Amino acid sequence: LQAVRIGICGLGTVGSGTFNVLRENAGEIAARAQAPVLVVHVGARRDNPACDLTGVRVSRDIFAVATDPEVDVLVELIGGTTVARELIETAIRAGKHVVTANKALIAEFGNELFALAAEYNVAVRYEAAVAGGIPIIKALREGLAGNRIEWLAGIINGTGNFILSEMRDHGREFADVLAEAQALGYAEADPTFDVEGIDAAHKLVILASLAFGIPLQFSSVYTEGITGVTPQDLRYAEELGYRIKHLGIAKQGDRGVELRVHPTLIPADRLLANVNGVKNAVLVEGSAVGSTLYYGAGAGGKPTASAVVADLVDLARDLSAGQISRVPSLSFCHESLQDLPI
Ligand code: HSE
Repeated sequence: LQAVRIGICGLGTVGSGTFNVLRENAGEIAARAQAPVLVVHVGARRDNPACDLTGVRVSRDIFAVATDPEVDVLVELIGGTTVARELIETAIRAGKHVVTANKALIAEFGNELFALAAEYNVAVRYEAAVAGGIPIIKALREGLAGNRIEWLAGIINGTGNFILSEMRDHGREFADVLAEAQALGYAEADPTFDVEGIDAAHKLVILASLAFGIPLQFSSVYTEGITGVTPQDLRYAEELGYRIKHLGIAKQGDRGVELRVHPTLIPADRLLANVNGVKNAVLVEGSAVGSTLYYGAGAGGKPTASAVVADLVDLARDLSAGQISRVPSLSFCHESLQDLPI
């Protein structure tokens, strides 16, 4: 069987996790992908001691990976929306398929990137962009494909949930928990994205685009973070039988799709109220299936790598079959997103 050749850009928390998961689970991955999935080229500003790069081509210039004729699939794990966008566009123009964990990039420039990918007949996959290791993109795209989605609501920022959980359960200071989330590699490079709700808003528009067949419209999300939540708020909520959770909510209404991200009071006995620490959970209400709940690690190297590798296995399977199934994020879209009744 012909190997599928991978180029990874970025060797931070998720990049090193992906490199190591591909190595550690190579047997299972090759069996499921029906081809060996091999990392042949890594682009990173510096090596990561967690990865043994023996036998792998390493470039300091990440664009060398995007144009390498030996690479079939580029995995973008550098984050950000400027260089990452240029890198992905370069790879697409060079005829490479792309896998990314970059929610900001997909939420803000996904419409353009998908159009470019369609032009070059390559795939862009982004399972890892939302809710870390939880296969929520697959669930919406495949598992729930027979449903009209009525609404979805989720805890989709692990750092924020970790902070609220630690403040409530252990009386810890906001800043102290945030520093720990950063040290553990959960937080964004700019942690205001986590605590101001921006990261959750990025993820929510991605989920909504798949659930409701609408273009990605990041600017349409009402966005409020957790910086205003005090220990007293958490305590009073508890006394009244509630928990405060930071939710992303997308709902189909008469006048369009409503998208909002904000702290929410949830009755303490509900499943979502009991999702703690860095865990994420997404509740999806489908017209045929009813309520479904997806739960798991929302951030971190290995859990996010699990989702990146799932996309690679899917792509490899398609490549072995000689056919790339286009991610249908836009193929069933309505003409435009109606005004949001926020
Ligand atoms: N900073 C993000 C979070 C990483 O805490 O959820 C995963 O997307």
